[in-house]
Amino acid sequence: MTFYMPAKVYAEENCVKAHAKEVCALGKKALIVTGRMSAEKNGSLKDVTEVLEAGGIAWAQYKDIEENPSVETIMKARDFGVAEGVDFVIGIGGGSPMDAAKAIALMIRHKEEDWEFLYGEDRGETILPLVLIPTTCGSGSEVTGISVLTRHDLRTKGSVPHRMFAKLALLDGKYLASLPKKVLADTSTDAFCHLTESYINNAATPYSRMCVEAGLKLWRECKDVVRGKKEATEEDLLKLLNASAFGGMAIAHTGTCLPHAMSYSITYDVGVKHGMACGLFQPAFVKEASEEDRRFILEHAGFESVEEMRSYIEEVCGKAEDVSEKDLERTVQEALNNPAKTSHAPFPVDEALLRRMAGLE
Ligand SMILES: [Fe+2]
Repeated sequence: MTFYMPAKVYAEENCVKAHAKEVCALGKKALIVTGRMSAEKNGSLKDVTEVLEAGGIAWAQYKDIEENPSVETIMKARDFGVAEGVDFVIGIGGGSPMDAAKAIALMIRHKEEDWEFLYGEDRGETILPLVLIPTTCGSGSEVTGISVLTRHDLRTKGSVPHRMFAKLALLDGKYLASLPKKVLADTSTDAFCHLTESYINNAATPYSRMCVEAGLKLWRECKDVVRGKKEATEEDLLKLLNASAFGGMAIAHTGTCLPHAMSYSITYDVGVKHGMACGLFQPAFVKEASEEDRRFILEHAGFESVEEMRSYIEEVCGKAEDVSEKDLERTVQEALNNPAKTSHAPFPVDEALLRRMAGLE
């Protein structure tokens, strides 16, 4: 049994400024990797640039990271970073900018290599020093070594085999304060799915389950905030960030399971957001689990029943009205062809079970 999570996590108010020294010690010039707008809006970019400037560290920003970043984007950002002469990377944002920052830190470190290196053999964490600052509460990417990129050549998404961990993960709840309600709902549902799918999982260990238990405790305390029934305090928002980080640590060791496998095609084909797409299949997945596992999840997530879980997800994420029966049929076939995920289920998986989960039977 192994538990390996080498990123140093700080989770507290004014986190970036409080740890300015450690950030500035990582190099002489930083490449800041962000999406197009959010890092400016939520104040995280300002905090980071102020810290760098006060420490006499130069910086350049690459802000053209799209949702589900592509290999092509990574290579453009790599060329930019090399031309700027950066020697460390700071990724700010949700899963997309953070996953991109990892791959960019790898490719700048190996600047003589072409894009195929990304999908080549793992060279053992040989990336530029990396800081990750999450500004949504779902992916947990700040504490995993994983980067998932879009492969336009294969018309799909693919996980990079290199394990790329940040040196520092800086969690500050205030960066969630300006998130649109829908994004808060979608990303916190993704975190819930990571926690649940890691628990109901063949690869679960006492260590990964410890993370799930801690994550669910924090997550359940924030349900009314996500519902919009309680004004969010900074403490609530930090709880959501921590729940997401615990989910990240858990799936870094177990991987996700059936609902994630079933989510991908409806995200690609219908455009359903990732958290909502996973949440759609979560109640049916929990229903298929053993009595013991089901009871653990319901109790720790604060639900009386699977039906209550279903209504909560529908209430915060909305109904997936655009998903047709044909889309669900395709989802079942895609999941059947994803043995890496179906083999993680701690019960036998066949077409009938997946059809049941998709509500087709
Ligand atoms: Fe996810």
